Amino acid sequence: MITDTPYFELDSDKLQKNLDRLSYIEKKSRAKILHTVKSFNQTEALHIISKSISGISAGNLNELSLAKSAPYIHSYAPYFHKGHIIAIAKKSDSMSLNSLQQWDLHSRELGRDTSLGLRINPKLTLKQPRYCNPNRSAWLGVDEDLFISDLVGNPDRYDRLEGLHFHVLCGQDLGGLKYLLSHIDKNFSHIMPHIKWINLGGGHNFTSETYDIEGLVLLLKSFSAKYPNIQLVFEPGESVVKDSGVFVTTVVDIIDDTIAILDTSIEAHMLDIAITKISPEVRGASKKEISKNSDKYPYQLTGMSCIAGDIIGDYNFTKALNIGDRVIFEDMMGYSMVKQTEFNGIDKAEFKIITPKP
Ligand SMILES: Cc1ncc(COP(=O)(O)O)c(C=O)c1O
Repeated sequence: MITDTPYFELDSDKLQKNLDRLSYIEKKSRAKILHTVKSFNQTEALHIISKSISGISAGNLNELSLAKSAPYIHSYAPYFHKGHIIAIAKKSDSMSLNSLQQWDLHSRELGRDTSLGLRINPKLTLKQPRYCNPNRSAWLGVDEDLFISDLVGNPDRYDRLEGLHFHVLCGQDLGGLKYLLSHIDKNFSHIMPHIKWINLGGGHNFTSETYDIEGLVLLLKSFSAKYPNIQLVFEPGESVVKDSGVFVTTVVDIIDDTIAILDTSIEAHMLDIAITKISPEVRGASKKEISKNSDKYPYQLTGMSCIAGDIIGDYNFTKALNIGDRVIFEDMMGYSMVKQTEFNGIDKAEFKIITPKP
């Protein structure tokens, strides 16, 4: 069977609705919101995003090349390649380095037009899924206690430091941000006079209907009233494109009336399922246990690869599936599409054949 699927489909009205909300937050609070390209990197849509919010956050030259139209660019990566870092800095208004090794190697050689910061890992205790909880990943950011004591004892080392970067949240509502800001207020107030910006990372559910936007504006305004010299910055990814698009597939075969094979594969198109272990929502179906209920049609959805683990999930449909039917996965713009290519702008690994000497 020849299908015109699979494909990802973005609804520009839904994207704009998210962007309007983010733009409202920016205007009311004076915080900057940057879209993080690693979550979603389609150039046409980045263009639309760049018109509504302050700019983008990128990780390397590949991502920067997608975001030329952005009015403001921040760069951060756990590691910047020695041969690329000067070019990345030249294209960036601000930049966060991840470790003191990277700081010592590079901070003095980078142009003065780029405002430099350090990512700090405050190791907060937060209830979040393991796959996206940076507080538990010691290599993501400089240990907070180490940084604070070193700054006191060794201030010259930080003469180029203008910003601090905290990416510690994942899918959080206002409570998560309150916790982070009160932590910063408690532990970093003595450093505030010496810096210009704080990047509060991603992981904010700003575009969820249940996020308390007015509470957010009040929180940000009160922080800014206390520290008027600090520009607050956010770099969400997921919430920028939340619920703005779908992944469309076709049923190519049905086995034993209960297994539907789709013209996709987790490893080819939906790698985030492999990492999060969360089955996506499917239009017209619920993700419950396989039902014995006669008004439901239970199916296991699988990919068409030959990997036995290529199982997308178990769903109850409201009608029987047939070969050729569409199966539409909801909310698939964030992280799914980027992972079918080169996630985070990281180049594909080369292929080499070697002939070992006897
Ligand atoms: C440093 C950094 N900033 C921002 C983000 C975007 O996070 P989210 O898509 O959860 O908003 C990520 C995601 O991994 C990240 O690593």
